[in-house]
Amino acid sequence: MPERTRLPVIAVLATGGTIAGAQAAQQGVGYVAGSYDIATLLAAVPTLAGVADLRPEQIANVGSQDMNHTVWHALATRIRALMADPGIDGIVVTHGTDTLEETAYFLDLTMPCGKPLVLTGAMRPATALGADGPANLYAAVALAGHESARGRGALVVMNEDIHEARGVQKVAAAGLAAFASPDRGRAGVMQAGAPCFHRGLPLSPPIVPWRTAALPPPDQWPRVGIVYAHADMQVDVIDFMADRCQGLVMAGVGDGNASAAALQALARAAARGVAVVRASRTRRGRVARNVEVNDDALGLIAAGDLNPEKARVLLMLGLMSTSDRAALCRCFESA
Ligand code: SIN
Repeated sequence: MPERTRLPVIAVLATGGTIAGAQAAQQGVGYVAGSYDIATLLAAVPTLAGVADLRPEQIANVGSQDMNHTVWHALATRIRALMADPGIDGIVVTHGTDTLEETAYFLDLTMPCGKPLVLTGAMRPATALGADGPANLYAAVALAGHESARGRGALVVMNEDIHEARGVQKVAAAGLAAFASPDRGRAGVMQAGAPCFHRGLPLSPPIVPWRTAALPPPDQWPRVGIVYAHADMQVDVIDFMADRCQGLVMAGVGDGNASAAALQALARAAARGVAVVRASRTRRGRVARNVEVNDDALGLIAAGDLNPEKARVLLMLGLMSTSDRAALCRCFESA
Protein backbone atom coordinates (compact mmCIF):
# COMPACT_ATOMS: atom_id res chain seq x y z
CA MET A 1 0.00 0.00 0.00
CA PRO A 2 1.64 3.35 -1.06
CA GLU A 3 2.21 5.87 1.71
CA ARG A 4 -0.48 8.53 2.01
CA THR A 5 0.60 12.07 1.14
CA ARG A 6 -2.46 13.75 2.65
CA LEU A 7 -4.28 13.61 5.96
CA PRO A 8 -6.53 10.57 6.32
CA VAL A 9 -10.23 11.23 5.93
CA ILE A 10 -12.00 9.88 9.02
CA ALA A 11 -15.74 9.62 9.55
CA VAL A 12 -16.67 10.11 13.21
CA LEU A 13 -20.08 8.62 14.03
CA ALA A 14 -21.40 9.71 17.41
CA THR A 15 -23.92 7.77 19.47
CA GLY A 16 -23.75 9.55 22.85
CA GLY A 17 -22.45 8.24 26.18
CA THR A 18 -20.41 9.79 28.96
CA ILE A 19 -17.93 11.08 26.42
CA ALA A 20 -20.75 13.46 25.45
CA GLY A 21 -21.95 13.84 29.04
CA ALA A 22 -22.47 17.06 31.00
CA GLN A 23 -22.49 17.66 34.75
CA ALA A 24 -24.89 20.10 36.38
CA ALA A 25 -21.97 21.26 38.54
CA GLN A 26 -18.30 20.38 38.22
CA GLN A 27 -18.09 19.59 41.94
CA GLY A 28 -20.97 17.10 41.82
CA VAL A 29 -20.91 13.43 40.83
CA GLY A 30 -24.12 13.49 38.79
CA TYR A 31 -24.17 13.96 35.03
CA VAL A 32 -26.31 13.25 31.99
CA ALA A 33 -24.77 11.09 29.25
CA GLY A 34 -25.31 12.14 25.63
CA SER A 35 -25.66 15.89 26.26
CA TYR A 36 -23.23 17.28 23.66
CA ASP A 37 -23.23 16.74 19.92
CA ILE A 38 -20.22 15.51 17.96
CA ALA A 39 -19.31 18.96 16.62
CA THR A 40 -18.89 20.19 20.22
CA LEU A 41 -16.80 17.16 21.20
CA LEU A 42 -14.48 17.58 18.21
CA ALA A 43 -14.13 21.31 18.87
CA ALA A 44 -12.68 20.42 22.29
CA VAL A 45 -9.74 18.67 20.55
CA PRO A 46 -8.39 21.30 18.13
CA THR A 47 -5.15 19.33 17.57
CA LEU A 48 -7.20 16.78 15.63
CA ALA A 49 -7.07 19.20 12.70
CA GLY A 50 -3.44 18.15 12.21
CA VAL A 51 -4.24 14.44 12.43
CA ALA A 52 -7.18 13.89 10.10
CA ASP A 53 -9.72 15.47 7.85
CA LEU A 54 -12.86 14.78 9.88
CA ARG A 55 -16.38 13.95 8.69
CA PRO A 56 -18.61 14.05 11.80
CA GLU A 57 -22.10 12.53 11.88
CA GLN A 58 -24.58 12.19 14.71
CA ILE A 59 -26.21 8.75 14.56
CA ALA A 60 -27.79 8.89 18.03
CA ASN A 61 -27.22 10.67 21.34
CA VAL A 62 -28.06 8.20 24.10
CA GLY A 63 -26.51 6.77 27.20
CA SER A 64 -25.41 3.32 26.10
CA GLN A 65 -27.71 1.65 28.63
CA ASP A 66 -30.33 2.68 26.04
CA MET A 67 -28.37 1.30 23.07
CA ASN A 68 -30.66 -0.85 20.95
CA HIS A 69 -30.93 -2.81 17.73
CA THR A 70 -32.41 0.15 15.84
CA VAL A 71 -29.24 2.17 16.45
CA TRP A 72 -27.08 -0.88 15.63
CA HIS A 73 -28.92 -1.27 12.32
CA ALA A 74 -28.43 2.45 11.53
CA LEU A 75 -24.74 2.24 12.44
CA ALA A 76 -24.20 -0.91 10.39
CA THR A 77 -25.95 0.56 7.35
CA ARG A 78 -23.94 3.78 7.53
CA ILE A 79 -20.61 2.06 8.20
CA ARG A 80 -21.08 -0.31 5.26
CA ALA A 81 -21.62 2.72 3.01
CA LEU A 82 -18.53 4.43 4.43
CA MET A 83 -16.45 1.26 4.02
CA ALA A 84 -17.40 1.25 0.34
CA ASP A 85 -16.70 4.98 -0.10
CA PRO A 86 -13.22 5.48 -1.61
CA GLY A 87 -13.11 8.97 -0.10
CA ILE A 88 -13.10 7.61 3.48
CA ASP A 89 -9.99 6.07 5.05
CA GLY A 90 -11.26 5.06 8.48
CA ILE A 91 -14.22 5.21 10.83
CA VAL A 92 -14.55 6.14 14.51
CA VAL A 93 -17.64 5.47 16.61
CA THR A 94 -18.08 7.33 19.89
CA HIS A 95 -20.17 5.37 22.37
CA GLY A 96 -21.13 5.05 26.02
CA THR A 97 -18.86 2.62 27.79
CA ASP A 98 -21.55 0.46 29.42
CA THR A 99 -22.49 -1.52 26.32
CA LEU A 100 -19.57 -0.50 24.11
CA GLU A 101 -18.21 -4.06 23.96
CA GLU A 102 -21.53 -5.36 22.64
CA THR A 103 -21.71 -2.78 19.84
CA ALA A 104 -18.04 -3.36 19.04
CA TYR A 105 -18.57 -7.12 18.71
CA PHE A 106 -21.77 -6.67 16.71
CA LEU A 107 -19.92 -4.40 14.26
CA ASP A 108 -16.93 -6.75 14.22
CA LEU A 109 -19.19 -9.54 13.03
CA THR A 110 -21.26 -7.55 10.57
CA MET A 111 -18.85 -5.10 8.92
CA PRO A 112 -16.29 -5.80 6.19
CA CYS A 113 -12.85 -6.41 7.71
CA GLY A 114 -10.99 -3.72 5.75
CA LYS A 115 -10.70 -0.07 6.70
CA PRO A 116 -9.95 0.71 10.35
CA LEU A 117 -13.06 0.81 12.51
CA VAL A 118 -12.44 2.12 16.03
CA LEU A 119 -14.82 2.59 18.96
CA THR A 120 -14.11 4.79 21.94
CA GLY A 121 -15.85 6.44 24.86
CA ALA A 122 -15.00 8.02 28.18
CA MET A 123 -15.36 7.25 31.85
CA ARG A 124 -15.61 10.90 32.85
CA PRO A 125 -18.13 13.35 31.38
CA ALA A 126 -16.95 16.06 29.02
CA THR A 127 -17.28 18.74 31.72
CA ALA A 128 -15.25 16.87 34.37
CA LEU A 129 -11.82 17.93 35.55
CA GLY A 130 -9.41 15.57 33.79
CA ALA A 131 -12.05 14.40 31.31
CA ASP A 132 -10.66 11.41 29.38
CA GLY A 133 -12.89 11.89 26.33
CA PRO A 134 -10.65 14.28 24.41
CA ALA A 135 -7.57 12.03 24.71
CA ASN A 136 -9.61 8.94 23.82
CA LEU A 137 -11.12 10.71 20.81
CA TYR A 138 -7.68 11.84 19.67
CA ALA A 139 -6.35 8.28 20.02
CA ALA A 140 -9.33 6.82 18.15
CA VAL A 141 -8.94 9.20 15.20
CA ALA A 142 -5.17 8.64 15.07
CA LEU A 143 -5.72 4.86 15.17
CA ALA A 144 -8.43 4.94 12.51
CA GLY A 145 -6.10 6.90 10.24
CA HIS A 146 -3.21 4.48 10.65
CA GLU A 147 -2.42 1.84 8.04
CA SER A 148 -1.55 -0.77 10.69
CA ALA A 149 -5.13 -0.73 11.97
CA ARG A 150 -6.45 -2.03 8.63
CA GLY A 151 -7.77 -5.61 8.44
CA ARG A 152 -8.14 -6.03 12.21
CA GLY A 153 -11.92 -5.79 12.44
CA ALA A 154 -13.47 -3.49 15.02
CA LEU A 155 -11.01 -2.13 17.58
CA VAL A 156 -11.64 -0.36 20.86
CA VAL A 157 -9.28 2.27 22.20
CA MET A 158 -9.62 3.46 25.80
CA ASN A 159 -7.03 4.93 28.14
CA GLU A 160 -4.30 4.40 25.47
CA ASP A 161 -4.98 0.65 25.31
CA ILE A 162 -6.06 -0.94 22.02
CA HIS A 163 -8.38 -3.94 22.27
CA GLU A 164 -9.93 -6.29 19.73
CA ALA A 165 -13.73 -6.24 19.82
CA ARG A 166 -14.02 -9.96 20.52
CA GLY A 167 -11.94 -9.96 23.68
CA VAL A 168 -12.60 -6.57 25.25
CA GLN A 169 -14.79 -6.16 28.32
CA LYS A 170 -15.74 -3.33 30.60
CA VAL A 171 -14.31 -4.68 33.83
CA ALA A 172 -14.87 -1.81 36.27
CA ALA A 173 -17.86 0.36 37.08
CA ALA A 174 -15.67 3.42 37.61
CA GLY A 175 -12.13 4.60 37.06
CA LEU A 176 -10.15 5.27 33.89
CA ALA A 177 -8.72 1.75 33.55
CA ALA A 178 -12.15 0.25 33.03
CA PHE A 179 -11.45 -1.85 29.92
CA ALA A 180 -9.42 -5.03 29.59
CA SER A 181 -9.17 -8.09 27.38
CA PRO A 182 -8.93 -10.64 30.20
CA ASP A 183 -8.23 -13.82 28.22
CA ARG A 184 -6.61 -12.58 25.05
CA GLY A 185 -4.70 -9.53 26.25
CA ARG A 186 -4.55 -6.06 24.69
CA ALA A 187 -3.95 -5.88 20.96
CA GLY A 188 -1.56 -2.98 21.48
CA VAL A 189 -1.08 0.47 22.92
CA MET A 190 -1.14 4.03 21.64
CA GLN A 191 2.22 5.70 22.04
CA ALA A 192 2.94 9.29 21.08
CA GLY A 193 -0.26 9.34 19.03
CA ALA A 194 0.48 6.20 17.00
CA PRO A 195 -0.49 2.56 17.49
CA CYS A 196 2.03 -0.05 18.53
CA PHE A 197 0.43 -3.48 18.00
CA HIS A 198 1.59 -6.46 20.04
CA ARG A 199 0.59 -8.95 17.36
CA GLY A 200 0.18 -9.18 13.61
CA LEU A 201 -3.00 -9.36 11.58
CA PRO A 202 -5.20 -12.42 12.06
CA LEU A 203 -4.07 -15.01 9.46
CA SER A 204 -7.58 -15.12 8.13
CA PRO A 205 -10.45 -13.24 9.74
CA PRO A 206 -13.32 -15.54 10.78
CA ILE A 207 -15.69 -16.22 7.91
CA VAL A 208 -19.03 -14.90 9.05
CA PRO A 209 -21.96 -14.63 6.64
CA TRP A 210 -23.23 -11.39 8.20
CA ARG A 211 -20.27 -9.40 6.83
CA THR A 212 -21.85 -9.38 3.41
CA ALA A 213 -25.50 -10.30 3.91
CA ALA A 214 -28.03 -7.51 4.26
CA LEU A 215 -29.29 -7.27 7.83
CA PRO A 216 -33.05 -7.61 8.21
CA PRO A 217 -34.96 -4.68 9.75
CA PRO A 218 -34.32 -4.63 13.50
CA ASP A 219 -37.88 -5.53 14.45
CA GLN A 220 -37.26 -8.87 12.72
CA TRP A 221 -34.08 -9.72 14.64
CA PRO A 222 -34.42 -12.89 16.73
CA ARG A 223 -35.12 -12.23 20.39
CA VAL A 224 -32.33 -13.57 22.60
CA GLY A 225 -32.32 -13.10 26.37
CA ILE A 226 -29.79 -13.75 29.13
CA VAL A 227 -30.54 -15.64 32.36
CA TYR A 228 -28.17 -15.38 35.29
CA ALA A 229 -27.40 -18.48 37.36
CA HIS A 230 -26.91 -18.28 41.13
CA ALA A 231 -27.34 -20.32 44.29
CA ASP A 232 -30.94 -21.40 44.85
CA MET A 233 -31.91 -20.23 41.36
CA GLN A 234 -35.69 -20.35 40.73
CA VAL A 235 -35.97 -22.03 37.35
CA ASP A 236 -39.43 -20.77 36.41
CA VAL A 237 -37.61 -17.69 35.11
CA ILE A 238 -36.04 -19.93 32.43
CA ASP A 239 -39.45 -21.26 31.37
CA PHE A 240 -40.77 -17.68 31.30
CA MET A 241 -37.99 -16.52 29.01
CA ALA A 242 -38.13 -19.63 26.85
CA ASP A 243 -41.77 -18.78 26.13
CA ARG A 244 -40.73 -15.39 24.75
CA CYS A 245 -37.31 -15.87 23.12
CA GLN A 246 -35.87 -17.74 20.16
CA GLY A 247 -32.53 -17.89 21.90
CA LEU A 248 -31.36 -17.97 25.51
CA VAL A 249 -27.90 -17.42 26.93
CA MET A 250 -27.22 -18.60 30.44
CA ALA A 251 -24.60 -16.69 32.41
CA GLY A 252 -23.74 -19.85 34.28
CA VAL A 253 -21.65 -20.40 37.37
CA GLY A 254 -18.07 -21.61 36.90
CA ASP A 255 -17.70 -23.17 33.48
CA GLY A 256 -21.24 -22.31 32.46
CA ASN A 257 -22.96 -24.61 34.91
CA ALA A 258 -26.23 -24.34 36.83
CA SER A 259 -28.35 -26.45 39.19
CA ALA A 260 -29.73 -29.76 37.92
CA ALA A 261 -33.20 -28.19 37.81
CA ALA A 262 -31.95 -25.21 35.79
CA LEU A 263 -30.15 -27.49 33.33
CA GLN A 264 -33.35 -29.49 32.92
CA ALA A 265 -35.29 -26.27 32.25
CA LEU A 266 -32.70 -25.27 29.64
CA ALA A 267 -32.92 -28.73 28.06
CA ARG A 268 -36.73 -28.38 27.97
CA ALA A 269 -36.33 -25.05 26.19
CA ALA A 270 -33.87 -26.57 23.71
CA ALA A 271 -36.26 -29.48 23.05
CA ARG A 272 -38.94 -26.88 22.16
CA GLY A 273 -36.60 -25.31 19.57
CA VAL A 274 -35.11 -22.47 21.62
CA ALA A 275 -31.36 -22.17 20.96
CA VAL A 276 -29.63 -22.30 24.35
CA VAL A 277 -26.04 -21.21 24.94
CA ARG A 278 -24.06 -21.73 28.14
CA ALA A 279 -21.58 -18.95 28.98
CA SER A 280 -19.88 -18.12 32.26
CA ARG A 281 -20.65 -15.36 34.71
CA THR A 282 -16.94 -15.49 35.73
CA ARG A 283 -16.14 -13.65 32.46
CA ARG A 284 -12.81 -15.45 32.06
CA GLY A 285 -11.77 -18.81 30.68
CA ARG A 286 -13.46 -21.05 28.11
CA VAL A 287 -16.77 -22.80 28.47
CA ALA A 288 -16.06 -25.95 26.48
CA ARG A 289 -18.60 -28.42 25.11
CA ASN A 290 -19.43 -31.62 27.06
CA VAL A 291 -17.01 -31.07 29.96
CA GLU A 292 -19.03 -30.72 33.19
CA VAL A 293 -22.33 -30.48 31.37
CA ASN A 294 -23.29 -32.95 28.63
CA ASP A 295 -24.30 -30.39 26.00
CA ASP A 296 -24.94 -32.96 23.31
CA ALA A 297 -27.36 -34.89 25.51
CA LEU A 298 -29.15 -31.73 26.71
CA GLY A 299 -29.19 -29.96 23.33
CA LEU A 300 -27.11 -27.01 24.55
CA ILE A 301 -24.32 -24.95 22.96
CA ALA A 302 -21.08 -23.93 24.70
CA ALA A 303 -20.06 -20.26 24.40
CA GLY A 304 -16.27 -20.76 24.37
CA ASP A 305 -14.60 -17.62 25.66
CA LEU A 306 -17.42 -15.23 24.79
CA ASN A 307 -18.96 -13.53 27.80
CA PRO A 308 -22.76 -13.77 28.11
CA GLU A 309 -23.54 -10.43 26.41
CA LYS A 310 -21.30 -11.19 23.43
CA ALA A 311 -22.69 -14.72 23.23
CA ARG A 312 -26.10 -13.04 22.97
CA VAL A 313 -24.91 -11.00 19.98
CA LEU A 314 -23.45 -14.03 18.19
CA LEU A 315 -26.50 -16.19 18.89
CA MET A 316 -28.84 -13.49 17.61
CA LEU A 317 -26.85 -13.17 14.37
CA GLY A 318 -26.60 -16.95 14.05
CA LEU A 319 -30.36 -17.30 14.42
CA MET A 320 -30.83 -14.90 11.51
CA SER A 321 -29.63 -17.66 9.20
CA THR A 322 -30.19 -20.96 11.02
CA SER A 323 -31.80 -22.58 14.01
CA ASP A 324 -29.87 -25.83 13.54
CA ARG A 325 -27.93 -26.60 16.73
CA ALA A 326 -24.93 -28.14 14.95
CA ALA A 327 -24.61 -25.07 12.71
CA LEU A 328 -24.92 -22.75 15.73
CA CYS A 329 -22.24 -24.80 17.57
CA ARG A 330 -19.96 -24.24 14.57
CA CYS A 331 -20.64 -20.47 14.78
CA PHE A 332 -19.44 -20.47 18.37
CA GLU A 333 -16.42 -22.64 17.58
CA SER A 334 -15.27 -20.47 14.64
CA ALA A 335 -16.41 -16.87 15.17
C1 SIN B 1 -22.99 5.09 28.99
O1 SIN B 1 -22.62 3.94 28.77
O2 SIN B 1 -23.57 5.78 28.14
C2 SIN B 1 -22.75 5.73 30.31
C3 SIN B 1 -21.45 5.36 30.89
C4 SIN B 1 -20.28 5.76 30.05
O3 SIN B 1 -20.34 6.13 28.90
O4 SIN B 1 -19.16 5.68 30.63
